[in-house]
Amino acid sequence: MDKIIVEGGNRLEGEVTVSGAKNAVLPLMAACILTEGRNTFMNVPDLADVRTMAKLLKILGAEIYYENGELSVDTTHLNNWIAPYELVKTMRASVLVLGPLTARFGCSRVSLPGGCAIGERPIDQHLKGLSILGANIQIEEGYVETTAPKLQGKIIPFDISTVTGTENIMLASVLAEGETVLLNAACEPEVTELAVVLNKMGAKIQGAGTDIITIRGVDRLHPVEGHEVMPDRIETGTFMIASALTQGDLLIKKCRFENVGAIVGKLLEVGAEISRVDGGIRVRGSDRIKSVDITTLPYPGFPTDMQAQIMTLMSIADGLSVITETIFQQRFMHTGELRRMGADVKLVGNSAVVRGVPYLSGAPTMASDLRASASLVLAGLAAQGKTQISRVYHLDRGYERLDKKLETVGARIWREEE
Ligand code: EPU
Repeated sequence: MDKIIVEGGNRLEGEVTVSGAKNAVLPLMAACILTEGRNTFMNVPDLADVRTMAKLLKILGAEIYYENGELSVDTTHLNNWIAPYELVKTMRASVLVLGPLTARFGCSRVSLPGGCAIGERPIDQHLKGLSILGANIQIEEGYVETTAPKLQGKIIPFDISTVTGTENIMLASVLAEGETVLLNAACEPEVTELAVVLNKMGAKIQGAGTDIITIRGVDRLHPVEGHEVMPDRIETGTFMIASALTQGDLLIKKCRFENVGAIVGKLLEVGAEISRVDGGIRVRGSDRIKSVDITTLPYPGFPTDMQAQIMTLMSIADGLSVITETIFQQRFMHTGELRRMGADVKLVGNSAVVRGVPYLSGAPTMASDLRASASLVLAGLAAQGKTQISRVYHLDRGYERLDKKLETVGARIWREEE
């Protein structure tokens, strides 16, 4: 198993390119289940989670090829509707196959995802949606079992905003009879991306990107060809913070300014200089990092997936910052590790009170989840001395060669075997 070593203190400068979005490509892969034939996607990141979804689709009978960011998913011979525990337990997003399997086969057996490092994460809204569409749902031996000869379009009011819940029900209802209306739908750009691709496949979806999505059911979908996956907004934000944190000057290329508005807003308040350039964002950090308060919210609010990274920035800011997590109550595992590097963080309910310190000092640390690992890499960039981050497999689930990309813009960062 690898660990990452970062020797802090270097200013980051230069150009860095953002990869395709993990949380966009996973539902797109699940969408292929609804088609019969060969789907192709470009700009697909080489990530552990993408490989896990590919494994799952292979178990369902798909043929998968991946080379240089091009992914092909051939669903001609799909013949299985069981998503086994062994795979679902390693990646919760596997649950995204529940809706499309039910729509395509009229039945599915998908392992229930269990506990998670960032909170409880139930899937009751996914099940509620499927049940309103007419699926019969049973929980047996740790699996959700659905049966539904033909799903029927209905009005589905979500009790809370859920990203994969909205995606799963959208995936289920595109082949339903009649019209489905999702109320309180998630507005995340990855939901919009899924609607765009489903429409390319022949679906009739309107309103994605707002909280009301209307889906007119169609009889069949056809494969999509050459869709270019949208850039990862969380990777974009992570580079933006890396620049602000190191008084750097990064030109972040192949990203969408419009998808990172909340991060831009906070970094401007912090004192960074930000400009929108053609196809990218330039972020210049200033000598003084001002503290700001942050509350995570559904899109277009400040993303929970950036909470750990901004905490690293606040840990060396001037003054006091209150960071409130409203999406996942237990998403504070990184605070203990940041404290080991000298950060002054206290947890009060679902808030972290961060008192900026003049510097962090390198230490051996352990990643607990994907975004926590990113926050520790960032902390290592700013810290005095060497930081060691163990359990790097968390990072590799969702960042494509983050260490290599940071190295090209001046970071002293490398991998070693544990
Ligand atoms: N929730 C329920 N019931 C449900 C579904 C969700 O109570 O049926 C709760 C969750 O427990 C949470 C809140 O609703 O408190 C929002 O969860 P959501 O369903 O939106 O999260 P998700 O779809 O499971 C996706 C991303 C996460 C990201 C969240 C929030 C994917 C594959 N995952 O998860 O990404 O944090 O939305 O934006 O899209 C990551 O990339 O590191 C990551 C965790």
